[in-house]
Amino acid sequence: MNAPTEGQRALAAALTRGVDADRAPITHVKASAYTSLERFTAEQAAIFQRAPLVLAPSALLPNPGSAIPHDGFGKPLLLTRDAQGVARVFLNVCQHRGTRLVEGCETVKANRLVCPYHAWSYTLDGRLAGLPRADAFPELNRADYALRPLPTHEAGGLIWFAFDAAADFAHADALAQDFAAFDLAGQYCFRRRMHRVAANWKLVMDAFLESYHIQRLHAETIAGFFHDGVSAADRIGPHQRSAVGRTASLAELAAQDWPTLRGAITYTYQMFPGAVLAVSPDYINLMVLMPQAVDQVLVENFMLIPAPPASEKARDHWERSWHLLDEGVFAGEDFRACELGQQGLAAGAVEHVTLGSLEQGVRHFHDVVEAWLTRADASEKSAVFPFRQAAVQNSAL
Ligand code: FES
Ligand SMILES: [Fe+2]
Repeated sequence: MNAPTEGQRALAAALTRGVDADRAPITHVKASAYTSLERFTAEQAAIFQRAPLVLAPSALLPNPGSAIPHDGFGKPLLLTRDAQGVARVFLNVCQHRGTRLVEGCETVKANRLVCPYHAWSYTLDGRLAGLPRADAFPELNRADYALRPLPTHEAGGLIWFAFDAAADFAHADALAQDFAAFDLAGQYCFRRRMHRVAANWKLVMDAFLESYHIQRLHAETIAGFFHDGVSAADRIGPHQRSAVGRTASLAELAAQDWPTLRGAITYTYQMFPGAVLAVSPDYINLMVLMPQAVDQVLVENFMLIPAPPASEKARDHWERSWHLLDEGVFAGEDFRACELGQQGLAAGAVEHVTLGSLEQGVRHFHDVVEAWLTRADASEKSAVFPFRQAAVQNSAL
């Protein structure tokens, strides 16, 4: 595990200083941003079909010679880790007559993937390895029948992909430096679960972009671990990084070692457009959002721990943490609030939602969404969203 990065230390220092609240003016987001089908369709085309997307933690597929289907992003995908350990994403479609290649949604361990229809087989790097009765295809050039690859990038313990061949993964590499600091790539995937949330995908991101609600919505679960609204945030490209102050002493906030620092600060990364990484004291949650409809999103929650549980006692410990977060905090509180939000917004009773100074992360996220909707040029994007721009949101501890 590496030392905290410069950026992580800067956010800790901002919390330590207790910088005055950012007196940002009240702003608004139109309710239709969450309820308009036209808007949803535009976001799919301008953002989800173009931006690099987090698919899964590396820990989902740790072993060479394995593959797992993935169906959350509208097309059947196949994530593989080939014999050399390289992660790849393909369309999960046989090139003979277009049949889905690998069924189900669980990991398969195999050196070759065999189509159920006529048994064409593929290696995990996508090559057509063989076909029965090859004499029936005398002129077939196997190189023309490789699985259709999508741009894939593994960095810092996350596997990213994109539908757009021109997608730029530079910001994934920038985040990877932070993730290396707490050894994200070395974690073990303890549990994962798919949630179907009856809310617009942005409502889920909003819930992980402000700490204003922690003392209220989470009053019965985790509120006691945190100060009220003590957070600092900055940006890495279109992504956000935030630090939320736990009930620790000022001295602990200045710690350089991870056990103390993770006890004092919950670092959270909001990866545009739809992934959240939350670093708790002894485990990490990754949530991947997959919009399905204007009012429905799948959220896959992964719980990552440092190593497989070595005893029943250890397993019980992690199970309790899993249950608290996945069932209690996320499903029972955050996602429930998102669904209530969708119900209220769909009723048309408010024209816009209102954001205060503790909700600047939400403000920025919606600005980035708008920018992707209205502009296509990547160089313009990097000019508008500088690498690092501190925006401290809280008053004193
Ligand atoms: S469709 Fe896959 S082998 Fe025929
Ligand atoms: Fe929450």
